[in-house]
Amino acid sequence: MSKPFNQLLVIFGATGDLVRRKLAPSLLALYRNGSIPEKFEVIGVGRKKMSDDGFRSIIREGLKLNNENSLPDNIAVEDFLSHFSYFSSNMTDSKDFVGLRDLIQKKDRDCEAGGNYIFYLATPSNLYSDITEHLCHAGLCSEEKGFRRFVYEKPFGYDLESFYKLNKSLKKFLKESQIYRIDHYLGKETVQNILVTRFSNGIFEPLWNRNYIHHVEITAAEDVGVENRGGYYDNAGAMRDMVQNHLLQIVGLTSMEPPSSLNADAIRNEILKVLQSLRPISEDEVEKNFLRGQYTSAIINGIKVPGYREEPGVNPESRTETYLAMKFYIDNWRWGGVPFFIRTGKRLPVRVTEIVIHFKSTPHFLFHVDDPGKSFNSMVIRIQPDEGILLKFCIKKPGPGFIVENADMDFHYSELEIERIPLPYERLLADVMKGDSTLFGRSDIIEAAWKFLEPVQNAWKRKTGKIYGYPAGTWGPENADNLIGEGLTWRYPCKNLSKGGKYCEL
Ligand SMILES: NC(=O)c1ccc[n+]([C@@H]2O[C@H](COP(=O)([O-])OP(=O)(O)OC[C@H]3O[C@@H](n4cnc5c(N)ncnc54)[C@H](OP(=O)(O)O)[C@@H]3O)[C@@H](O)[C@H]2O)c1
Repeated sequence: MSKPFNQLLVIFGATGDLVRRKLAPSLLALYRNGSIPEKFEVIGVGRKKMSDDGFRSIIREGLKLNNENSLPDNIAVEDFLSHFSYFSSNMTDSKDFVGLRDLIQKKDRDCEAGGNYIFYLATPSNLYSDITEHLCHAGLCSEEKGFRRFVYEKPFGYDLESFYKLNKSLKKFLKESQIYRIDHYLGKETVQNILVTRFSNGIFEPLWNRNYIHHVEITAAEDVGVENRGGYYDNAGAMRDMVQNHLLQIVGLTSMEPPSSLNADAIRNEILKVLQSLRPISEDEVEKNFLRGQYTSAIINGIKVPGYREEPGVNPESRTETYLAMKFYIDNWRWGGVPFFIRTGKRLPVRVTEIVIHFKSTPHFLFHVDDPGKSFNSMVIRIQPDEGILLKFCIKKPGPGFIVENADMDFHYSELEIERIPLPYERLLADVMKGDSTLFGRSDIIEAAWKFLEPVQNAWKRKTGKIYGYPAGTWGPENADNLIGEGLTWRYPCKNLSKGGKYCEL
C-alpha cells in the first residue's frame, strides 16, 4: 500500500489521557508497520509549560503503560519520539496562534510537508470553535497549498442545539470535506466486519429483515465505573457517552440497506436513512421505552467499590444515568415492526459489546422447550472481547422424546493466523492521513441522532422520571427485562463469546 503524503500532525490537548492512552500507541503502531508518511512531524499543544523533552517523556510513559505489545527497541521508540515537539498555549488567546503558525511553518520545512496539515482537537469540546477560528485567522485553514484536515473528538455537541451551534461555527471556516468527526467505534475491525458479514454472505442476506428477524439486541457493557472521569461523565451520562454516537452508528451498520459502493458517501447515505427512519419518541413515551439506572456501592471480588454518587467529581445528588436500556423501532420496509433494544452501562459484570440478531421461531413450533428463548435461532456478532460470531440453533437433546436444546457454531478472531487486530485509532488516524472519511461522522448523521434523542433529553430535564439503583457488578435494574416482554430476557454475555448466562464464569 502506498504511504500517505508527508504531513504534519498538530494535536491540541496533547498532554491528556486520550493522547497518552490511545493516540500515541496507535501512531507508534503505524510507525512500526510503515504506514506513516515518509517524513512526518507531530506538534503537541497543551496548557502546561514544558520543553519538547518534557513532552516526549509524557508520551514515552504513555507508550510504556498503554502499548498492547512490548515496545520496539529503545532506538526505534526514541527515533519515533524525535518527531515530537511541544507548544504551550491556553488555546483561547489568538496571539498564541501566531507563534504556533511559525512553529508549524518551520516543521513543515523540516519534513517537507508541502502544507499538508492535520489538526487533531483532543481538548474539552467547548474549545473546538475557538481553536478552529484562531487557526483560520492565522491563515492555517485554506487548502490552497496542501490539505488541511480537522479531527474533532466526541462529544460533538451536548444536545441538538449545541450540535447546531458547533457545526455552524466550524462550517463558517471549513468545508465538510475538511471535517473528521471521530467515533472510535467505527475504527474497530469488528464493527467494520458487520458490513462484510451482512453484504458478503448470501446465506444471511435473504433473512435480514422483518420477515425473519424477531428482535435485535445491542449491548455495550463496561465493568469499570467512571474511574477518574467523574466530572466529564456526570455531564454526559450513558446516553451521550455511548448511545448518541457509538451505538446508533452500530444500529446504522446493522440495519442499513446495501450501499451502492464502498465509497464514503454511499455508506454514510445509507446510515443516514436508517437514523432518519427511527420512529420518533414523544416525551410522554420516554418513561415506557427508556429505563435508567445508577450503580450503587457493592463488594466485588472482596473489594468494596463506591456507588456512582460517591465517585470523585460526581454530584452527590446526581441524576445522571450510568445505565440505560431502551426500546425503539425503525419505520421502513425492511424493519417495520421489529423492536430494537439497546443496553449500556458502567459497573456491569463484564466488559462486552455485541449485537444479537434474534430470528423468529418456526411458524408452528412442534417441540417442548422449558425456556421460550430456546425456540429462536440467534446470531451474536461480538465486537469485543473475544471478537467473533456465534450462531445458535436448535438440536434434539439425545434421549427420550423430543427435547430441544440450543447448540453453537462459533468463529473467534483469535483462531485466525494474524498477529494482532489493529487498534481503532490506528485505522482512523491512517484514514485521516489518506483523506478517507468513510468511518467518520457526517454532520447530517450526527444531527439525525441528536434529533431522535431530543425528546428523551427534554423529558429527563423535567427530573420526574425514575432512575433505578443497581448494585455495582450486576446486570443493571432487574426490571430491564420487562422492556423486552413476551417472557424473553436479554442475553447475559460472558467474556467468552460462546458462553452466556447471568451467573456464568466471567
Ligand atoms: N480519554 C478518552 O478515553 C476519550 C475517549 C473519547 C473521547 N475523548 C475526548 O477527547 C478529548 C480529550 O479527553 P481527555 O480524556 O484526554 O481529557 P484530559 O485528560 O482532561 O486532557 C485534556 C487536554 O486538553 C487540555 N485542556 C483541558 N482544559 C483546557 C482548557 N480549558 N484550555 C486549554 N486546554 C485545556 C489539557 O491540557 P493541560 O493538561 O496542559 O491543561 C489536556 O492536554 C475530550 O473531548 C474527550 O471527550 C476522550
